[in-house]
Amino acid sequence: MDHFAYKSGVLHAEEVPLTRIAESVGTPFYVYSSATLEHHYRVFSEAFVGQNAHVCFAVKTNGNKAVLALLARLGAGADVVSGGEMRQAIAAGIPAKRIVFSGVGKTRDELTAALAAGIAQINVESEPELRALSEFAASMGTLAPVALRVNPDVAADTHEKITTGRKENKFGIDIDQAPALFRLARTLPGIDLKGVAVHIGSQILDLEPFRQAFARLRELVLALRAEGINLERVDLGGGLGVPYHRDDPTSPPPDAYAALTREAFGDLGVRLILEPGRLIAGNAGMLVSRVVYVKEGASRNFLILDSGFNDLIRPAFYEAFHEILPVNLPAPDAPREPIDVVGPICESSDIFARQRLLPPIAPGELVAFATAGAYGAVMASTYNGRPLVPEVLVRGARFDVVRRRPTPAEMAALETVPDWLKNPAS
Ligand code: LLP
Repeated sequence: MDHFAYKSGVLHAEEVPLTRIAESVGTPFYVYSSATLEHHYRVFSEAFVGQNAHVCFAVKTNGNKAVLALLARLGAGADVVSGGEMRQAIAAGIPAKRIVFSGVGKTRDELTAALAAGIAQINVESEPELRALSEFAASMGTLAPVALRVNPDVAADTHEKITTGRKENKFGIDIDQAPALFRLARTLPGIDLKGVAVHIGSQILDLEPFRQAFARLRELVLALRAEGINLERVDLGGGLGVPYHRDDPTSPPPDAYAALTREAFGDLGVRLILEPGRLIAGNAGMLVSRVVYVKEGASRNFLILDSGFNDLIRPAFYEAFHEILPVNLPAPDAPREPIDVVGPICESSDIFARQRLLPPIAPGELVAFATAGAYGAVMASTYNGRPLVPEVLVRGARFDVVRRRPTPAEMAALETVPDWLKNPAS
């Protein structure tokens, strides 16, 4: 379900034609539908009513302040993976006590900032991190609320670059070694052992890997309980996928996912923490781009856009498929021809789609990449001297620029030339 649709022959976000936003802010730009974000957040959180569950949106998916503020208003917490994301979440109005902090390489500065802010939970991923956190918390005279992230070694059928729950991944503590670390955690100063966390990967469209991971986690919780280590929280990470292609399976229904969590943990009296990202934001956003040229090559034709992999890296990085929609609805009988859709970046991998069947699209026309609300703008870079693109939030018939395009002067201002270079004689 999303709120992007053709109306009177033009692709709209809610009540706003994308052509109107393009005229106002220029291209490329990201556009988000607030109704879609709200819908997904509500459906997901309502599926867990009665389970003492806490939804912490994964900020890495979409860290735009307005998007976070919208989710904060609905009661969302945040899952953050850096001091920067923690600050973004707090600045957007998500209280520290609803923030959990994950990631394998949290630095001293990040951990002490998290403790000082009073965040809800730090998901510790290794023994060295646990010992470091213990030392920092003790020296600050405080207690760190900790969950240990375990690696349940389940295979999730997803792209190898986004699977995280296998033994060979860098994430989490091997589930067989976990009990020893839980015992250690109980003895260390400054550590308040609250729970256990997992995250098995992303873009998972089948519930079976979750069922397996949850069963292993349940066993672990019970085994620890038998030794007198009572965990009050179980953090299940994110990972629910969304369809990118019309032939993809649909997302696992939140109700069915919630039935799994109830089955695994319903009788344990624990608080659940959920960290969905893509499921909330994925189809709530599009990247809109303009066709610069149509180039007829020797063996194939190219639709050359004004956006590149620096704006949306998923196709180049993961061979990900994104639907490409002409913003002006083509005639139903328009012929569809295979064409390579590419960006302007000077690298052969700057290809959004190979031999995509598209109707004729002329230079100057707009196209929209669907399902770009998650892992889109957040993964952008300024490669090739290109500014980060603006982000626009639509609500009904209004739209607001919620991140503006930087000026060339702003982009240049961070860099300096040392004096010895400015004046070769000195
Ligand atoms: N929690 C943790 C600890 C995570 O590492 C992640 C994502 C999430 C939650 C949110 O997962 P989601 O519900 O969105 O699947 N850039 C890749 C995806 C990387 C996912 C990393 N971790 C992509 O564009 O597909």
